Amino acid sequence: MNILLTGGTGYIGSHTAVSLIELGHTVVIYDNLCNSNASVIDSIEEITSIKPAFVIGDIRDSALLERTMSKYAIEAVIHFAGLKAVGESVQKPLDYYDNNVSGTVTMLSVMKKLGIKRLIFSSSSTVYGTPQQLPLTEEHPVGGVTNPYGRTKLMIEEILKDLADSDPLWSIVCLRYFNPIGAHESGLLGENPNGIPNNLLPYVARVASGQLECVNVYGNDYDTPDGTGVRDYIHVVDLARGHACALKRFNEMHGCEAINLGTGNGYSVLEIIKAFEKACGKEIPYRITDRRPGDIAANWADPTKAKKLLDWEAHYGLDEMCASAWNFEHKLREKSA
Ligand code: NAD
Ligand code: UD1
Repeated sequence: MNILLTGGTGYIGSHTAVSLIELGHTVVIYDNLCNSNASVIDSIEEITSIKPAFVIGDIRDSALLERTMSKYAIEAVIHFAGLKAVGESVQKPLDYYDNNVSGTVTMLSVMKKLGIKRLIFSSSSTVYGTPQQLPLTEEHPVGGVTNPYGRTKLMIEEILKDLADSDPLWSIVCLRYFNPIGAHESGLLGENPNGIPNNLLPYVARVASGQLECVNVYGNDYDTPDGTGVRDYIHVVDLARGHACALKRFNEMHGCEAINLGTGNGYSVLEIIKAFEKACGKEIPYRITDRRPGDIAANWADPTKAKKLLDWEAHYGLDEMCASAWNFEHKLREKSA
């Protein structure tokens, strides 16, 4: 298939591009580079020996999107493009609603105009809010989201449901990612946020490489086995493969389906630090600090629906996730030395 990846030079999009190219799909990447680098295209080429077509563009630019989708005879879109920093979304809510929600509506209008009705959307487990029970199945109520970023995901899911209800020819899959971590085995693709990382894994990796001093563990008084927050960490390569599995199912699927992509296992912050120490062979200093506002104690997925509908399940364990993240971080520091 000819597939457009909006946000395809980003962390998850770039790994998905590799997965799809390896399966023989033709990938076109469309990204405005607001949170990624064009050099990712060279890394994708180095890994797959195929250079994907790349258009620098914004999803709010309907004319350029239309030209791109027409030129490359796009058959399906995987929509990764979006802003994703929770704290920033509280400071700049309008930027988030404009970029994520309005941008998605613009993109959908172009797809509708061109008759392209197959879409995979990057949603998040954040749509479940504070879990009423664990593991989280797709039937768990959504809502109670504590920040504008999370609300953009929820709003977009609602918009997509309305769209699918309006026309049975749409096939839409909302993939609700749990916590993607890790990197491609080559060490050429991975997560390299600008500035001080907000998320746990890139922060731990930078402490391991000496860029940062000490991990702040946000609270050890949660109702969890060791008191620290528990999450369902999933290898980004497993997550990428989930998109390829969803693409295969488009012919059998109509309407709008929400599907969890997680492993079904929860790990605490302290377990992550221990696993990373094992991967890098160094002690990782940490200190317990106050809770981070808006954090929940624990969430992890029930991945049964993904297995049933997509024939997908995660393969990699925590040690492999940390080893690949360390390999990427280590190579990054070697390059910049
Ligand atoms: P990322 O920031 O690495 O990738 C997003 C890409 O979208 C970037 O390359 C950015 O330049 C691009 N982009 C942003 N706004 C754009 C616009 N208006 N037009 C064109 N391109 C634009 O993030 P990621 O971690 O790869 O996440 C991909 C998607 O998955 C996002 O929608 C994110 O909200 C969602 N998600 C991520 C996580 C996570 O933990 N990483 C979890 C759940 C959901
Ligand atoms: C966060 C976002 C979520 C988003 C996801 C991916 C919040 C409230 N949620 O999820 O919407 O989809 O990132 O971008 O921000 N932790 C520390 N020290 C740190 C960083 C994190 O102890 O320096 C802890 C957190 O309290 C949490 C766990 O590590 O228990 C994971 O945190 P993080 O990686 O930020 O992911 P989430 O909070 O799950």
